[in-house]
This record gives sequence, C-alpha cells and structure tokens, in this order.
Amino acid sequence: MINTLRNYMELSSTVADIVEAQIKEHPLSKLGLSTGSTPLGMYKELVSRELDWSTVITFNLDVYLMYVNHPESYQSYMRKNLFDRTNIYPNHYHFPFRPFSSFEDKIKGSKGIDLCILGIGTNGHIAFNEPGSSFLSRTRVVNLEEQTIIDNARFFDSVDDVPTQAITMGLATIMESKKIVLMAKGLKKKSILNQAMFGMITEDIPASILQEHKNVEIYYCD
Ligand code: F6R
Repeated sequence: MINTLRNYMELSSTVADIVEAQIKEHPLSKLGLSTGSTPLGMYKELVSRELDWSTVITFNLDVYLMYVNHPESYQSYMRKNLFDRTNIYPNHYHFPFRPFSSFEDKIKGSKGIDLCILGIGTNGHIAFNEPGSSFLSRTRVVNLEEQTIIDNARFFDSVDDVPTQAITMGLATIMESKKIVLMAKGLKKKSILNQAMFGMITEDIPASILQEHKNVEIYYCD
C-alpha cells in the first residue's frame, strides 16, 4: 500500500517519526540511509529533535565515485545534513568501501540493518541499482543511466559535472534490511512508484523487488 501524505512537510515528519521511534526503542539501531532531495526535510526534522545518536550505527546506501570532499559528494551531503549536526560518532557512520565484501561483512557483523530509508529514481532505481540490476546483486561499482545523470544534474553546475559511476549496495543487500521505508515526492515519481508496487516484479524496475519484502512501508506526496 502507498500512504499518500498531504505535503512534503508531512512526508518528512512522518518518516522522521519512524526513525525517532526506532532510535528511542532500540538505541543500538543500525540504519540504512539514502541521500538526494527527498530525505532532506526528514534529516532537518531529525536534527531539530535532538535525538541521542551516540549508539546508532549507519550505513549509507550509495556514493558517487568522485572526490569525497567535493561539496556534492554523498559523504559531504551526509555530514552537512545529519552527521555534523548530531552526536553520532564518526566511526559509527559508514559509506560503501572497498573491498566491497568487507563492507557487506561490516553490515552482517553488526547483525544487519534494522531500518532502511529509501528513495526512488524516476527510472525505478533504489540506491543506485539501475534498471537491469540483478535481484541477487551486492555492493559494487555501477554505471549511472543517462536518465539518472540528467535527474541529478540539478545539484551540479552542468550535466557534464555529474559523476557517471557510483558504488551502491546491491538489491540483495537492501532486501536483508529488517524494515524498509521508501519515501517519494512529486508527480514525476507517481507512475513509476505505482508500477513498482503494483506491477510485475521485474529487474527492469528494481524497486519492484520491494513487493517481496515482508516489512516495507511506502510514503508519497505530490
Ligand atoms: C541516493 C539514492 C537514490 C535516490 C533517488 C531519488 O542515495 O539512494 O536512489 O533516492 O535517486 O533521488 P531524489 O530524492 O533526489 O529524487
């Protein structure tokens, strides 16, 4: 089921409520986190709630293959919008790293992700698992689709500056999360979201694999 909310503020605070409850009920929670424009309001809301992040561990879903201190890197994004504004320990937050098997082992070693917050691309990608990604995929380097590069050009001076490759958790990695919450905003996401949630489960629409997860919640606003 897709929960349709009235506006972006409600979307942000609803998902922030879920993260807050997770952290308060389970202070040792492991969170899977995404970036992009959709979760910005949720991060802002979480920062304003001044929660105790001192025992929380996080795993970001993906990073561009680019200079990590570039202002548009996902490492910079997370520091600016969440990590530097909470009491999370720097050695408690993780971005995909090489060797990828060690990153996967790190997640497994921490007993897995309890709550994973996802966005969705206009082509149905989750994290940077582009259409055609195997449902069995794990953390790896991927080439970004032209549509993704165009969609993300708004964050850069020009489309030519958008990285063309990324490291992403795989679909199998994401599906091992105990609970998944997907946030989507805007009419341009509506049709792909409906196809992903109610259409055929196919690797052509990576998000459609979520239909097979037992504990997934979808939140959408126009
Ligand atoms: C980024 C990520 C991506 C985004 C998706 C939507 O970490 O996981 O899958 O969630 O590209 O991005 P926005 O929210 O910018 O539309």
